[in-house]
Amino acid sequence: MEPEQPSTDTEHESLHEETHLPPPTLWPIGFAIGIVVILVGLIINPLLISTIGAVIAIVFAVLWARDATAELRGESLVVEPERREMTEAGEGMTAPPADQQGVALVQVPETAVTRSVFLEGATLGLGAAIGGLITLPVAGFMVLPSFVGQEQHKVDLGPIERFPLGKWFIATFIVDPTQGEVSRRTAFIRNNGNTANPENPSEQVPSFTIISNRCAHLGCPVQANGPIGQKYTGVPSFKEHTLTGPAEFKSVTPAGYGCPCHGGQYDPEGNRIAGPPVRALDRYAFEINHGRLILLSTYSVSHVEGTGAQAKIYKYKEVGPGEHVDGPEQVFYPINPPHH
Ligand code: FES
Repeated sequence: MEPEQPSTDTEHESLHEETHLPPPTLWPIGFAIGIVVILVGLIINPLLISTIGAVIAIVFAVLWARDATAELRGESLVVEPERREMTEAGEGMTAPPADQQGVALVQVPETAVTRSVFLEGATLGLGAAIGGLITLPVAGFMVLPSFVGQEQHKVDLGPIERFPLGKWFIATFIVDPTQGEVSRRTAFIRNNGNTANPENPSEQVPSFTIISNRCAHLGCPVQANGPIGQKYTGVPSFKEHTLTGPAEFKSVTPAGYGCPCHGGQYDPEGNRIAGPPVRALDRYAFEINHGRLILLSTYSVSHVEGTGAQAKIYKYKEVGPGEHVDGPEQVFYPINPPHH
């Protein structure tokens, strides 16, 4: 049987274009950048940065998928032709042009999925499945623990009349009764007396200064620099069995606070005055509920101007020890998940 010969140059070219290599594309790089932005955003700002990352990843994933499936969807592609040697023709095959020698190729119907396209799709699909199976659990185990168990605890410290006006106490209290002593924390508390309510200046509300003892350098517990106890302060210490557990209040006259780890020093308002800490000590927000002092979450402070109820506090969302909250350093400092 005589092999069938391609009749024109055009048919010959179309035969060579049946099999091809996919053109190079930059979409996977954009997709990878989107994934990186998502992961970084989960640590810095899940709502804003992760959303931007998700948009980038989705856009590039769609473009990539469109490229990869263009031929399956019947779109014409700009491809590099794949060259093959042809030596002889057989039944159902197309012979090489007269000026070439080699094997004839089976003529594939235009609607059929060629082997190279099938392998390309299978490789992409399998790669995506394996990548997802490996990446998702690893990313989940890396990122999620930092964001779970972040619920807010309210800590009852007892009636506010237990705190004499203008006197400092070192308070130790339990944050989470279900965890017991391991959740015991320390803060320095002073009753500043009543002050005008910022939201309704005609109303007077109690003011307290409540400073966390977590050092703003690396988190060591800072100590009050000053005598402790009634013998030196003239103010009785006391214990209170509060709604969230036993709490203890030792009277103190602090000239400031010092960190035993690396010598960081703070003034009585918590401002950093020496050593490696990068900002003032964190503070506790609070509320007065039925005459009782209730601690809320902590927030970070760059510095404090003034003292007591008149102090101007430069407050920020809570960040980890060692992190700057203002100035250009905040941009360059390592990122941390939220702490409570
Ligand atoms: S941890 Fe306090 S100075 Fe380093």
